[in-house]
Amino acid sequence: MKKIIAFAGSNSKESINKQLATYASSLLNKNVEILDLNNFELPIYGIDFEKEHGIPENAHKFLMYIKSSDGIILSLAEHNGAYTTTFKNLFDWMSRIESKTFYNKPMLLMATSPGGRGGASVLSIAKERFPYHDAHIVEVFSLPFFSNNFQDGKIVNEDFNKQLKIAIEQFNKSL
Ligand SMILES: Cc1cc2nc3c(=O)[nH]c(=O)nc-3n(C[C@H](O)[C@H](O)[C@H](O)COP(=O)(O)O)c2cc1C
Repeated sequence: MKKIIAFAGSNSKESINKQLATYASSLLNKNVEILDLNNFELPIYGIDFEKEHGIPENAHKFLMYIKSSDGIILSLAEHNGAYTTTFKNLFDWMSRIESKTFYNKPMLLMATSPGGRGGASVLSIAKERFPYHDAHIVEVFSLPFFSNNFQDGKIVNEDFNKQLKIAIEQFNKSL
């Protein structure tokens, strides 16, 4: 059985990106483990900390989830046009262990936000950068106006729902 991981690039307990990642996972007929960055707390990356204490266990743990998975569903929250601090911090720590951080695993890359751009800026940053870390981005999906388009755990706008289902189908084929 394939093992897929899904997570949001957010530490919000009510993360809308985690809600989207969870919904996307439910459309996939596979065993998906939903991860929460709150369970992988890390000190803020700094070279001095690393020299003194080494790389924290949680960075190793999360990287191991990626390494042992067959695919990744990731929905990035956008803060000031970029990754959230929590996600960037985890990414930075993991990249110190393995610069090919995503191990060429098929990835469904998503973002959602309350506004009309649906995390377009952070998606553009990730699309550009992740391939340097061996990401194999199969599909990209953005959901704007989260609270209009997502209710009771699912996408209620038919067009966006269709788009996501097509993305999931392609992602599934790549696994
Ligand atoms: C510090 C901060 C900066 C933000 N910057 C952006 C932004 O640049 N673009 C955007 O679409 N939303 C922005 N937002 C709103 C977030 O998209 C919103 O809080 C969303 O719920 C974050 O996703 P999450 O719930 O998965 O954490 C920002 C929110 C915060 C707290």
